[in-house]
Amino acid sequence: PTRKRIFSGMQPTDGSLHLGNYIGALSQWIALQESYDALYCVVDLHALTVSPDPALLRERTRSTAAQYLAGGIDPERSILFVQSHVAAHAELAWLLSCQTGFGEAGRMTQFKDKSAKQGSEGTTVGLFTYPVLMAADIMLYDAGLVPVGEDQRQHLELTRDLAERMNTRFGAGTAVVPDAHIVKAVAKIQDLQDPSSKMSKSSAGGKGVVWLLEDPKKAVKAIKSAVTDADESYGVRFDPAEKPGISNLLTIFSAVTGRDIDHIAKEYDGRGYGYLKVDLADAVVAFLEPFQARADTYLADPAELDRVLADGADRARAIARPVLDRMYERFGL
Ligand code: ADP
Ligand code: NA
Repeated sequence: PTRKRIFSGMQPTDGSLHLGNYIGALSQWIALQESYDALYCVVDLHALTVSPDPALLRERTRSTAAQYLAGGIDPERSILFVQSHVAAHAELAWLLSCQTGFGEAGRMTQFKDKSAKQGSEGTTVGLFTYPVLMAADIMLYDAGLVPVGEDQRQHLELTRDLAERMNTRFGAGTAVVPDAHIVKAVAKIQDLQDPSSKMSKSSAGGKGVVWLLEDPKKAVKAIKSAVTDADESYGVRFDPAEKPGISNLLTIFSAVTGRDIDHIAKEYDGRGYGYLKVDLADAVVAFLEPFQARADTYLADPAELDRVLADGADRARAIARPVLDRMYERFGL
């Protein structure tokens, strides 16, 4: 292809994506679809690693696709599809499993964190091989660029190592070595209650998370009770080391309004943090309401959503098939 191809995906593990997913991932995807051939995937096979209820998984897969559309993914321009609809993901993952060292996979910090929480009996082999499936997702489309948040950097490094290893073992051109596309400024939206850790579906209690599909009143509450530093006399400025809470609020403010962070900081500097929070809450509501209305429209027309996803799967398969054939041929299959 003349244009670089990009691939990215999110798991349908919750009823809703959160603001960190939107700012760190979805909004980047939307910007990138203008200038790249993009594939955006709902990675339902990845969600199986945490043994979801089947009916809930199916519903959340559709809801996640609706949120991609609501955020502005254009299914004419980009390929929007569900991972399990393209069997080649699982096929390539097996090939890559046999290229990945056991110790190498064991060094993934996300696996170490998640498996520590779940204990060895609660941890599936799928959770262990999750980054291998992710590498397959990317290589299956010869993707050269992968827009992700900071938390995925190590998995991307593994993908690059695997691609380079395959090119050495099986000949140049076996796999494209992808670059991570991590936009520093938004790569890590922090939990509103604990600005030292990232906003995540697994955040304790979830009080510091803004869900894209939740009642906007809850978002207002979460923002107004956001943890900031105690001393308001230090003012409003973007300084993630000294003022992580305030800096996080400024990042979110900028992301949902498109305004420059320094301009926002200047506007609120010298005033109480309360003013910043109230206006940010308004801005987030102004973002959430139309987003939710668009998501509802897509969810209210299941036949159209199915059509979009079936068309995306057809187009994804057409790219994946020759790539998988090439891999099989190189591996001696
Ligand atoms: P989570 O981290 O909540 O489990 P996922 O692993 O499904 O969510 O992440 C989906 C995408 O959203 C990934 O590209 C990830 O890097 C990005 N992402 C997740 N949380 C954040 C965050 N707090 N800030 C920025 N990006 C994030
Ligand atoms: Na993550």
